[in-house]
Amino acid sequence: MAQKKMFRRAAETDTRDACATRRSPLDSCVHFFHYRNGKLHCEDVDLARVAQEFGTPLYVYSASTILDHYRRLDAALAPLDHLICYAAKANSNRAILKLLADAGAGFDIVSGGELFRVLKAGGDPAKCTFAGVGKSPEEMEYALDQRVYSFNVESEAELGYIGKIATAKKLRAPIALRVNPDVDPHTHEYTSTGLQENKFGIALEHAAAIYERAANMPNIDIVGVQMHIGSQITEAKPFADAIKKVVPLVRELKLKVGIKFFSIGGGLGIVYESSFASGAKEWWDSSTITSASKSALSIQQYVDAILPLLRDLKLRVLLEPGRLLVGNAGVLLTGVRYIKQTGQKKFAIVDAGMNDLIRPALYHSYHEIIPVEEGRVVALRRLPPCRTARRPYQLSKSTRKSKNTNKTMEKIDIVGPVCESGDFFAIDREMPEVREGDLLAIMSAGAYGFVMASNYNSRPLPAEVLVSGDKFSLIRERQTYQDLVRGEVSVDRPLRGRC
Ligand code: LLP
Repeated sequence: MAQKKMFRRAAETDTRDACATRRSPLDSCVHFFHYRNGKLHCEDVDLARVAQEFGTPLYVYSASTILDHYRRLDAALAPLDHLICYAAKANSNRAILKLLADAGAGFDIVSGGELFRVLKAGGDPAKCTFAGVGKSPEEMEYALDQRVYSFNVESEAELGYIGKIATAKKLRAPIALRVNPDVDPHTHEYTSTGLQENKFGIALEHAAAIYERAANMPNIDIVGVQMHIGSQITEAKPFADAIKKVVPLVRELKLKVGIKFFSIGGGLGIVYESSFASGAKEWWDSSTITSASKSALSIQQYVDAILPLLRDLKLRVLLEPGRLLVGNAGVLLTGVRYIKQTGQKKFAIVDAGMNDLIRPALYHSYHEIIPVEEGRVVALRRLPPCRTARRPYQLSKSTRKSKNTNKTMEKIDIVGPVCESGDFFAIDREMPEVREGDLLAIMSAGAYGFVMASNYNSRPLPAEVLVSGDKFSLIRERQTYQDLVRGEVSVDRPLRGRC
């Protein structure tokens, strides 16, 4: 479906643009979430209205933010022959993939399923790099048949398999070795990949010998070198250090086998702690930024650090950003079901859980949480249980309009309904008073949000909406109870005997 046709116009929109910097070319604001008349908007769409239509929990993404990030990165890299391969794992909804494919992006994929999605979204397999430490023979065949740009090979054993399968199919397999430069990216231990203790890649000192073996394999074409040191990296130095370590190998391979590209991976971090404020250009320009925001890495700082190291290689440079493109382009909307006071603690129990957004539980990640209606309480109306694709909760048409002008700050835990103590979004968070029925936006949820969601506690997966300007469209329906048992074998079917 054409992107334009997918969107519907929001009924009440105010086209006076609160985000006046939106159309400036390179240094515009970094996301398009903002308050207009006290109501949180995504671009020109009132988020309370979207929640009213589709219920909560609900992921909402800003198309303009995604494209703005892509275009700014693309423009900053203009001095290089480059290809941005969006890391589909960050958010693989086909509508998002199509946005980026239409903008000219390639894709970094890590499974047959991701390749399938990219193809369904109209992506070009000739711009796809296939990464991952455990590709199956079936996935290799599929990627070979589709003529992907490169297999990023992570071990000698994998190289052997790709060679065998390519020979059997009488096809040539284009490969790059993923080398591990042993650089500390100073990020969470679970998202660090470029150290020797990690399972990823091939140690730099072994790479030359394995390339040599590859050069002697009949159906293998050596096309590049790849590396990726980790994710949510908020300083430029580790990227530059890693490039410096790998460049000698790249030069040697260019000379000896004529490789086509050097892929420097993804990993650019985004702002989580001041997510909302960082949407304004002024925040980035401000010299009085707080300690939380000091960890912000701008696209320009990143490119300034890497460009001088890559320029005279005269090779195509591939980048694999995921989070940078989609992270701050998404929020998770959630309604407050109950307020609970126990001893010293106050909890807001919301309708989203760790099954919808697992990052706080898994990595203790910080996500900023803000009210959708500034100083305003919105009542939730209960709907019958979710037997259809309808949402379990819906905003009441008669929202309580009591403007709470003197909201006090308080410490509160924002927790989900899942039966796990790890089911939290914020612990002891200082926030304006939260009340039952409030609608909250969990910021920076566009990357590694929905894609890591599960049905734990038999909770249907949330819906997803894409906004563009004053239009919005449902890009994934909320799951129903029926969806939860789809694919399970009937409980009435007798067990079969041993064969
Ligand atoms: N390239 C490779 C080889 C990767 O493994 C990854 C991410 C990327 C590119 C994209 O990295 P990004 O630009 O998005 O940082 N679930 C974790 C993040 C895991 C990242 C896995 N690999 C989180 O929620 O923080």
